Amino acid sequence: KKNYRIAVLPGDGIGPEIMQEAVKVLTLVGEREGVTFTCEEGRIGGIAIDTDGTPLPEETLKLAKEADAVLLGAVGGPKWDQNPGHLRPETGLLGIRKGLGLFANLRPATMINSLVDASSLKPEVVSGVDLIVVRELTGGIYFGEKKRYDGPNGEVAEDQCIYHEAEIERIIRVAFDVARKRQKRVVSVDKANVLESSRLWRKVAERVGADYPDVELSHQLVDSCAMQLVRDPKQFDVIVTENMFGDILSDQAAMLTGSIGMLSSASLAAGSFGLYEPVHGSAPDIAGKGIANPLATILSVAMMLRLSLGMDKAADAVEKAVGNVLEAGHRTGDIASDRSKAIGTVEMGQLVRDELSQILN
Ligand code: NAD
Ligand code: IPM
Ligand code: MN
Repeated sequence: KKNYRIAVLPGDGIGPEIMQEAVKVLTLVGEREGVTFTCEEGRIGGIAIDTDGTPLPEETLKLAKEADAVLLGAVGGPKWDQNPGHLRPETGLLGIRKGLGLFANLRPATMINSLVDASSLKPEVVSGVDLIVVRELTGGIYFGEKKRYDGPNGEVAEDQCIYHEAEIERIIRVAFDVARKRQKRVVSVDKANVLESSRLWRKVAERVGADYPDVELSHQLVDSCAMQLVRDPKQFDVIVTENMFGDILSDQAAMLTGSIGMLSSASLAAGSFGLYEPVHGSAPDIAGKGIANPLATILSVAMMLRLSLGMDKAADAVEKAVGNVLEAGHRTGDIASDRSKAIGTVEMGQLVRDELSQILN
């Protein structure tokens, strides 16, 4: 195929700043590979609340559904933090995940050697870390019924956590399939000592695991996994877990590799359709300053090229370009040891494209 439609949803805060650099990278890939990427912009999150009165306009969902893949920046910000649930930017993100059936969230945390010093942990602990969190993305407590009411002793709030066997099975299968292309080790993370949904999770993981005799399966409780992630992260290959545990553990895994500004992710539906976004948020504290790290979003473009568009060579090239720029010592503020030498978002994007145009020559 020579023509792809990409839905581009920059969102809020640093979203538009990092997205601009990612789209420029995609355009360069297109020019070099003889492929046309038609990027169509849509609104999601706070900007959509302000303009359309809803965090996920119908029009945006339609645009995403009709595209070959979706690129998303980030949503949220203090401006909307006091809004009721249905008028929060984050609700738009949850809505598009559910609306597109994106049940499998892949969040790789791979140490780039030249960044070992940017981690808050000792070099010997983090050098060589190469793990991936496979997070269930459309079930669990995020999507259970929410209630708020007055009880006899004040207000009461409820968030229901439900998992169906079929929902667990499909994400566990994704994890095993991913593991087969890696070190063939899956750690399924739950809280089976307390939660019923976790006991079902563990049972299904065991059953599905029997179909993958070549992959090693073990179970870890989430609290212990959080501890092991900082104690000895190299023990992990694939971590598979439910929605909220995956949210928390993937931020933690991100920091092993230096900065949340580096981590990309893919949210996949059945088949090859996917939404690609950085793991980090809209970073309101640095929005508009031109200092955000665009690499997580640029690396998300690489994931999109590989997983949704079958452009492996281009994906490798983008990752290589990022690696070379870091190798040469260029750093945005979040990963710089000497902040006075840090470069900005646009400069970083330009350096990646300079490298990329050499590589895809
Ligand atoms: P955050 O990830 O936005 O920021 C956490 C810290 O990391 C901040 O100090 C920020 O400056 C820094 N940071 C994040 N991305 C960076 C980058 N690319 N370059 C340099 N530094 C970076 O998390 P938060 O502050 O907890 O949340 C802010 C808002 O973002 C909230 O409204 C939250 O709901 C939303 N959020 C959205 C997403 C998403 O859209 N996928 C993810 C997480 C949080
Ligand atoms: C993420 C974010 C989202 C999540 C929020 C913004 C809804 O933290 O993508 O990790 O919790 O899934
Ligand atoms: Mn998160």
